[in-house]
Amino acid sequence: MSFYQDQQIIELTKELREYLLQVGVREPEYLKKLREQTANMPERTMQILPEQGQFIAMLVKILNPARILEIGTYTGYSSLCMALALPTAHIITLDKNAEWTKIAKKYWQEAKVDNRIQLIIGPALETLKDFKEESFELIFIDANKSNYLDYYEEGLRIARPNGVLLIDNVLWKGRVINPMHSDSSTQTIKKLNEIIKNDPRVDICMLPIGDGLTIVRKKDGSGGGTRTPDTRIMILGFVFFYIFMLCA
Ligand SMILES: C[S@@+](CC[C@H](N)C(=O)[O-])C[C@H]1O[C@@H](n2cnc3c(N)ncnc32)[C@H](O)[C@@H]1O
Repeated sequence: MSFYQDQQIIELTKELREYLLQVGVREPEYLKKLREQTANMPERTMQILPEQGQFIAMLVKILNPARILEIGTYTGYSSLCMALALPTAHIITLDKNAEWTKIAKKYWQEAKVDNRIQLIIGPALETLKDFKEESFELIFIDANKSNYLDYYEEGLRIARPNGVLLIDNVLWKGRVINPMHSDSSTQTIKKLNEIIKNDPRVDICMLPIGDGLTIVRKKDGSGGGTRTPDTRIMILGFVFFYIFMLCA
């Protein structure tokens, strides 16, 4: 089945994105300074875009998470976005690179949010094993693509019911639909996208923002509604009681 219909889909040209940045993005001063410093680094494209940062910040404000986990710190732009968005949020962020994260720490200190951001240096997959089930309300996955399948599974394990996973780079600069790209990162991202699409444990929303961002909501075990297992047991009890009264 094709999803194509007659509605117009906007193509985000360079000029249109410029306009979007001009009228649609308010980037706090500390973030701007950090982005400008990172722009001089050869790996600068690893940083999320300002409009994406603002989107994640908005989600943080709406979801009001007490505990956030980030996998992939780099120079700290996305963690600073989340920390500035919500003064009550505590963030744990994982990276294996001590050099890049030194820059992150400098800016967290300047913005006076360093007391709410804990950086753990080491291979993220190892660190993740130390977290208990259902520990976080929000998890942002933005590290090496080779481990994305494991980050997703671990993320689901340690996310609270109704918790949210944000997965970056799901469109992978368009390589997900380009047969010329059969490298392992592209294959892993394509596989993960399929897994998420068919995963009954979650609700999903894939957005073409930045390099593609999927929002995954972990269902609460009752099919995604707000009923807890206790309410379901009560409802079952009432049904049995009603049948019993009818038969009596
Ligand atoms: C895309 S960057 C993160 C960008 C960051 N979220 C931002 O927007 O500024 C990915 C980061 O993942 C880190 N990384 C890559 N492989 C890793 C691993 N196995 N364990 C921990 N961190 C890893 C890299 O050092 C890099 O800083």
